Amino acid sequence: MYEILERRRLVPNLHLLRVRAPETARACRPGQFIMVMIGPDGERVPLSIADWDAVEGSVTAVFLIVGTSTQKLARLRAGDRLHVCAGPLGKPSEIAGFGTVLLVAGCYGIAALYPAARALRQAGNRLVLLADVKAGHLLYWEDRYRNLCDRIVVASRDPGAPFQEFASHAVSNVAAKEASLGRVLVSGCAYLLAAVSEATRPLGLRTIVSLNPIMVDGTGMCGACRCSIGGNTRFACVDGPDFDGHQVDWPELFRRRAAYLDDEVRSLCRFEKESLP
Ligand SMILES: Cc1cc2nc3c(=O)[nH]c(=O)nc-3n(C[C@H](O)[C@H](O)[C@H](O)COP(=O)(O)OP(=O)(O)OC[C@H]3O[C@@H](n4cnc5c(N)ncnc54)[C@H](O)[C@@H]3O)c2cc1C
Ligand code: FES
Repeated sequence: MYEILERRRLVPNLHLLRVRAPETARACRPGQFIMVMIGPDGERVPLSIADWDAVEGSVTAVFLIVGTSTQKLARLRAGDRLHVCAGPLGKPSEIAGFGTVLLVAGCYGIAALYPAARALRQAGNRLVLLADVKAGHLLYWEDRYRNLCDRIVVASRDPGAPFQEFASHAVSNVAAKEASLGRVLVSGCAYLLAAVSEATRPLGLRTIVSLNPIMVDGTGMCGACRCSIGGNTRFACVDGPDFDGHQVDWPELFRRRAAYLDDEVRSLCRFEKESLP
């Protein structure tokens, strides 16, 4: 059992979860994820590692409420226990001197890219954050990124905001102002990953996406997270989650992500009905 040290709402619909998991905290690297199970009968939920503290023995993730498991997670409090918190899983992100790195992040991806941003900064890169939020008040961890980034651009749909378009439309504009852009990292919803990859393809910018297919075991055994990368079958849990965005078969990924939609909606309706006062 894994004690929850903190669970709080960061902005509407996004929550921070800090769990005591000393072995995971000692081994974490940027780009990796954990699998949590709320109870013995719950599903396994993959969450990107947003931070860790090896001294405290804790791991932090930020999650978006989308269905039954994330609704349940959002009701837990400090002192409650998770049945499972397995990790770190997946291959770490490649960290090297790329010159300038553009980080494109939305939703939980703003937190998920933070460890890579910190490591890339330590490796001497110039960093630009392009954050995609529906409205300005949904931006979080701006203070953390201010300490790392040379430039922060926020694409929000607020009237009067400098970039009102979806982040993928702002990419070429942001990239045009950067002389030595060596890499783009993207994390967030699958639509953001795909749209940014399409936007950077004609610009010839190497683009690494943190892929989020449905996962079950997280250890390469079940095949649930199978995806096609450059025509080859890969398992995102062990071969990724980082992949070249220009090589991903996006239509297949979207199809596979929607495979259980009816069951997920039914499960959520049942859960919400059962939780009515
Ligand atoms: C490597 C990886 C890292 C992730 N990191 C984060 C994170 O840091 N924060 C965060 O909020 N979310 C993250 N996700 C997505 C998160 O795992 C799903 O949103 C969650 O499992 C949904 O569970 P649910 O029961 O609430 O919703 P469900 O009702 O099960 O599903 C709702 C939607 O979420 C998608 N989904 C469902 N199950 C999974 C699954 N096991 N893996 C991926 N997508 C799924 C489905 O496409 C579906 O449309 C990550 C996914 C992967 C693969
Ligand atoms: S989640 Fe089972 S193989 Fe990746």
